[in-house]
Amino acid sequence: MTERLALDYGNMLAPRLGGRGLQPAALEEAGVRFQEVHADVERRRAAGELGFYELPAEREVVGRIRAFADGVGQAFDTVVVLGIGGSALGAIALREALLAPGWNELDSEGRDYFPRLYVTDNVDPTTFGPLLERLDVRRTLFNVVSKSGTTAETMAQYLVVRERLRQALEGDGYRGHLIFTTDPERGVLRRIADAEGIATLPVPPSVGGRFSVLSAVGLLPAALAGVEIEALLAGAAAMAERCATAELTANPAGMFAVLQHAAHTGAGAGIHVMMPYGDRLGPMAEWFRQLWAESLGKRLDRTGAEVFRGPTPARSVGATDQHSQVQLYMEGPFDKTVTFVAVREPGEDLVIPAAHPHEEALAYLGGRTMGELLEAERTATAAALTAAGRMNMTLELPRVDARSVGQLFMLLQIATVYAGGLYDVDPLDQPGVELGKRLTYGLMGRAGFERPPAGDDAAPRVIA
Ligand code: PA5
Repeated sequence: MTERLALDYGNMLAPRLGGRGLQPAALEEAGVRFQEVHADVERRRAAGELGFYELPAEREVVGRIRAFADGVGQAFDTVVVLGIGGSALGAIALREALLAPGWNELDSEGRDYFPRLYVTDNVDPTTFGPLLERLDVRRTLFNVVSKSGTTAETMAQYLVVRERLRQALEGDGYRGHLIFTTDPERGVLRRIADAEGIATLPVPPSVGGRFSVLSAVGLLPAALAGVEIEALLAGAAAMAERCATAELTANPAGMFAVLQHAAHTGAGAGIHVMMPYGDRLGPMAEWFRQLWAESLGKRLDRTGAEVFRGPTPARSVGATDQHSQVQLYMEGPFDKTVTFVAVREPGEDLVIPAAHPHEEALAYLGGRTMGELLEAERTATAAALTAAGRMNMTLELPRVDARSVGQLFMLLQIATVYAGGLYDVDPLDQPGVELGKRLTYGLMGRAGFERPPAGDDAAPRVIA
């Protein structure tokens, strides 16, 4: 049992919140609706539309990733992932959760001789340029990650890197410093790889970017840096198995989705804060923020009617944001839920030395540990929010290791497709980002794309 992730949701319900929050009867009704949503998700899964469910069973690809990571991959000092959005956030979350803190600042021995791992996630020349300057590209592997193979940011990064590699290496030596993670058959990257003999790994067509962390997208960078990807996948598989049930009270992803949806639609709480206690899970909350926002924020419902739906996810980290956001969560509008992420066995700890015995404000800390303080702060913040009638729940991980993180990723991905059903939107598409992409192409001079229309020059509204 202690290996299993737990969801404690009592603080979402009215009996603990002085009448605010969700009525247990409403939850029972939601349980009935959940049966339909669960059946629909299972149908889509059986139809092959929800490929992320099946990733833990992709033994052949995992074998290829393992072989590359343990072989060719170990010839490099540094790995740089070029990607953005769903092609970057999972790898960042895995690195921060599962590698030693400050990984890229450690020397080779501190990294057990695994490579440094950078994930770019932007096209800011003031950070990307200096990163390339710091690296010895002749000892660096660049993993270009783009399912579509057309994302402007990633392609720009690739073109800059390719040029640097060609300048630094003779002949076609650049090829051995590139590996593309992309669609198995289609797209520009696939064509280039085929033509130039560049190594590739697949993103299955049925796995969208933000659901791809357990595909080669997240697994290759993680494996290159020494993460036990098999344990990650085992945790994910165990969670998928737990969520096979349509019984809401036994399905943690179902309960998470139902509570968030009911809090939004029944109690006006459309802002969903993910708040892990501890730095290492902060990037996981950023990964979740993208997953929840891009999957659920939609103009159309599944019948095509205009509905403008979706919750607004937010990321906090405890205890840091107790001194930044918690005032708002305690006393601002009742428009939020807070999901804490707690860790049962935090691992490393630090004893706080006893000093200044006569200073009462310091003396109580002496002999306790920082881990105890962090956990006390989480427990206290949850209790304070509850006393203030604020809905909150806690996802409790056994520890921050590959198996637990695999459970968490899978839970949140399954919860997202359930939430798509509850909000009655398609969680797999993202039509809202297309117009901005097309206008960017127009501004950058891509043939066939238009620039944004000019503003009304007769009435400029600029303070310059
Ligand atoms: O989740 C998504 O679908 C997006 O965030 C994509 O991952 C992102 O736009 C990058 O797309 P691609 O992998 O095609 O370059």
